Formats: sequence, structure tokens, C-alpha cells
Amino acid sequence: MTGEGSGTRDEGRGAVVDGSSRSTPGGPPQHHGGTEASASHHHSRARDTGSPPLVPRPSSLLPAVSVRDLRRDYRMGGETVHAVRGVTFDVVDGEYVAVVGPSGCGKSTLLNLVGVIDRPSGGVVAVRGRDVSTMTDKEATLFRLRNVGFVFQRFYLMPTLSARENVELPMAEAKVPRAERGARARELLEYVGLGARERHRPSQLSGGEQQRVAIARALANRPALLLADEPTGELDARTGEEIIRLFGRLNADGTTIVVVTHDEELARAAQRVIHMRDGEITRDEWRVASGERPAGGPPPASG
Ligand SMILES: Nc1ncnc2c1ncn2[C@@H]1O[C@H](COP(=O)(O)OP(=O)(O)OP(=O)(O)O)[C@@H](O)[C@H]1O
Ligand SMILES: [Mg+2]
Repeated sequence: MTGEGSGTRDEGRGAVVDGSSRSTPGGPPQHHGGTEASASHHHSRARDTGSPPLVPRPSSLLPAVSVRDLRRDYRMGGETVHAVRGVTFDVVDGEYVAVVGPSGCGKSTLLNLVGVIDRPSGGVVAVRGRDVSTMTDKEATLFRLRNVGFVFQRFYLMPTLSARENVELPMAEAKVPRAERGARARELLEYVGLGARERHRPSQLSGGEQQRVAIARALANRPALLLADEPTGELDARTGEEIIRLFGRLNADGTTIVVVTHDEELARAAQRVIHMRDGEITRDEWRVASGERPAGGPPPASG
């Protein structure tokens, strides 16, 4: 997890220490604070095309996520709920991981800890080698803004803002210049298939369209990591499939994804499925890398 002496040239880690030293948050995405020299050590498909890709291609050798003996207790009156009880795993760059398990087993709690929305009661969460469990709230906010994209079941778009303005919001918070924000927001809306809807407000969009705006918003600052909690939970099967396809494309384009879901079809699209029960990981299942999504095949072997 600490990458010391591994020859990674401090790539990424020093650069995100206070979240402010990354040169251009809205700039070319593949340099996660790395230098030209260090970036050239790693193959990146981004370099093949000449133009910057929409989604980041992190070049660090550090895991995207490292979780060690992670715990989260909730105190409720006199009693304690052990929502996450000593969970350990890594997610490497480019992985597409689904977290599944019965209601109440701690999936959302775990995702919120990884996304620096919540803090652990014990153990460590590191995102791209940076220990996020001990950050101050201010550090956490900055870190989250620039390194993690979060998609929720209920979209949480700003109702008074247009699709484009919603996508621009995290860029404004990250102080990306105004002109750049508009261009990038348009580019992202095109990517999610909503180029023609940029001026619509959330109430003028279907559920699936709203979720696609929310996904574009999550990608606004080129996060290293996309997290999603039940992203198809509010959608009908057909609309859910559009989101599943979009996630597949994002992952194929280099985005690291961790998605919590009850949706078997969504879980089936991931390369790896982490099964949870009662706050613990009971199974960590790798699949054969499947470029193409099985169309209406049998349910996964998870049982
Ligand atoms: N803020 C909170 N305060 C107290 N207990 C909580 C809190 N949030 C979650 N819990 C409890 O922690 C446990 C795990 O909750 P969590 O929301 O992580 O489950 P989940 O796996 O996401 O479930 P679902 O599939 O229904 O969304 C549950 O027993 C829940 O009641
Ligand atoms: Mg949940």
C-alpha cells in the first residue's frame, strides 16, 4: 500500500497531499500529478490518440483503493451497530467491482467510507495511496472533489439548474475556469448521450436521463475512481440497461468503478464481485474479463 522504494517516483501521492497542488484540475486528465518523466514509464492508451480522453487513465502503480481491517460502528442510544466489521481488499486501476449482499449488510456504509463521505471507526482506507481515514473534513472535501466521483440511487441533481449547469457544479467548486467548465460539461453530456438535453432541468428529463446527467457530473473533475450506490435502483429494467452499458463503456475507457447493487444484471457486468454479509466480505469473486455483456443469460453463479 505504501509504494515506498517501488520506483513509482512519488507519482500521485505527493501531488494530492492537500488536494491543491495538482496543477490543472480541469486539464489533461492522465497526469495525476505525475511528471512527464514518470508518466512516460507507464503505458497509457490515452497517449495513443493525441487528444485527451474524457475519462482519466491513472498511471500510478498504487492501488486505486486499499482497505485494511475497516470497521464502522454506529452508536444508537445504548446499543452499537457494527455495520462494517473488519473488511480488507484492494481495487487496482481499471477494475470494475460490484459489491452485493442482503439489505443492511453494510454495502453503503463501506462505499461511503471509500468515498470519504464517512469516516471509519477503525482500520484504514487509502485512495491512490493516500490515507483518507484520518483527513480533516476540509481535506476530505477537497480530496473527494478531485479524486472520487459518486453516483447515487436518487440522482441528487439541483432542480433549478440545467443539465449542463449540474455537470459544471463540481468544476466550479474545484475552481476550473468558466470557459473550460462549459466545454467539458458539453463534452461529458455528449459522452453520456445527452448532448441534445444540456438545457433541460432535471424535471424535464426522464429518470434514466437524470442518472446519466449525474454520471456526467461525477466525472466532471476526472476522478480516479467512480463509486455508485444502486445507480439503477430507481430505474426500470430497460433504462437500467442503458446505465449498465454506460458503465461498461466508462470502464472500457479506463475508469475504475466500484458499484453497490442489488441488480443482478449490473453485478454481472462487473469483472469482480465482492459478496458481503453482516458487515463482512464472505466471497471475492473474479470473473473472466468480459468485454461483451451477456444478453439475458442465466443469473450469476452467486446463489
Ligand atoms: N447512520 C446510521 N446510524 C445507525 N445505523 C446505521 C446508519 N446507517 C446504517 N446503519 C445500519 O448499519 C447497517 C448497514 O447499513 P447499510 O446502509 O450500509 O446497508 P446496505 O447493505 O447498504 O443495505 P441496503 O441494501 O438496504 O441499502 C444496517 O444495519 C443499518 O441499519
Ligand atoms: Mg445501501
